[in-house]
Amino acid sequence: MTKNQKPNGLSELKRILIIGSGGRENSIAWALSRNQYIEQIYVCPGNGGTANFEKCICLKPNKEGQETIIFECQRLQINLVIIGPEVPLAEGLANKLRQAGLLVFGPCKEGAQLEASKDWAKTLMLENNIPTANYWSSHSKEEALEILHKVNQPLVIKADGLASGKGVIVCETIEQSKEAIQEVFSGRFGSAGNKVILEEKIEGPEVSLFALCDGEKLIVLPPAQDHKRLLDGDKGPNTGGMGAYAPAPLVNQQDLKDLTELILIPTLKGLKRKKIKYIGVIYAGLMLTSSGPKVIEFNCRFGDPECQALMPLMGEEFASVLFACARGELEKAPTLTFKNQCSVCVVAASKGYPDSPKEGDQISLKLESNPSLQVFHAGTTIDEFHNIITSGGRVLSVVAQGESFDKAFDLAYASLKKIKFDGMHFRRDIGYQIRNIST
Ligand code: AMP
Ligand code: GLY
Repeated sequence: MTKNQKPNGLSELKRILIIGSGGRENSIAWALSRNQYIEQIYVCPGNGGTANFEKCICLKPNKEGQETIIFECQRLQINLVIIGPEVPLAEGLANKLRQAGLLVFGPCKEGAQLEASKDWAKTLMLENNIPTANYWSSHSKEEALEILHKVNQPLVIKADGLASGKGVIVCETIEQSKEAIQEVFSGRFGSAGNKVILEEKIEGPEVSLFALCDGEKLIVLPPAQDHKRLLDGDKGPNTGGMGAYAPAPLVNQQDLKDLTELILIPTLKGLKRKKIKYIGVIYAGLMLTSSGPKVIEFNCRFGDPECQALMPLMGEEFASVLFACARGELEKAPTLTFKNQCSVCVVAASKGYPDSPKEGDQISLKLESNPSLQVFHAGTTIDEFHNIITSGGRVLSVVAQGESFDKAFDLAYASLKKIKFDGMHFRRDIGYQIRNIST
């Protein structure tokens, strides 16, 4: 490339809109803001940390709705829309934007069923020989109880639809499974629980895989490890995720190739067979069992907080790659490189998370700038006096890199000591799998 020549595709990529308000979207905005060719990044609605990064601003239209987003994209001459969360994807925002002629990174409504209906995803897995736990699905409490009675072993009970990552009840006993079925059908997860999946309980370490897809081809990112439980020692309720690290050493380069062949490529092919041009992230949550890897969930977007740990590892080609995916031309993108570092993320949550998070507390952040350290905001907002205030359950995440996981965790945990808000809590054992700490 000559000195003034822009990398492939980037001459047309100047203004990006990211949809979402979480730590995931904050970290994507940060990663893209480091690309010198991108002029402006809007995050709709964004959060209290959006404007901390060069070229990034919150977009808060007066009206809600898909038509408003189309209008804003046209007004701001957006070249690429990245949709972060699952809900707008499942509602068909990507379909609408594409119909309006926009380039979008994020699957269409049909593809988002990978996450929006566990039954649909399970059927896709069966049709394509993708290894997963055995399951039954049911529309009624009576039928589900009957299945449980016949199977006569504790089953994992899952609401079929979207439930903010909280629709899974892992049961130790048949009695607990019974209670879980009753809870789901009594409306605990709203209409997401109109159908339930009863799943065989499997065991093994978990790992998250991410593929960036252009409808035909895919690129696999370094594997990541999430920590879903609220408390140290993997205790307490499931949350959206309390911390993550990448690359997860549990999966080496050869394993990653094998898992790509076994799971990710067949998933994309299965989607294609259903005439779905899947553009966006395929997130496969795996359990590595004694009888081989099995998929326990698919998501149609980046994981949160895995994304926060992954973004600092992305080479500068990241923007070109997302843009090429959106155009369905991944073959024209430069090779995506990954920094040879360990990256870790620890989430600081507010009091009461996940059930009833407290909001409205002032946050004190006294961190020195360090190229190996990032603070990605999630549930934060700025008040009229320019104070940063808590406004959600997962408030922010501290992300650090190092040549070893120990160094990265030392930096992340030392930095957390310099952040304060009332009721702040975080897990102290993120990465226990690879650190020398007792749990
Ligand atoms: P999900 O939201 O589907 O990722 O599930 C949340 C958590 O529940 C997973 O991270 C696992 O720890 C656990 N889980 C889900 N499915 C199973 C299963 N079939 N057997 C055992 N644990 C499971
Ligand atoms: N960290 C899990 C998720 O994003 O669903």
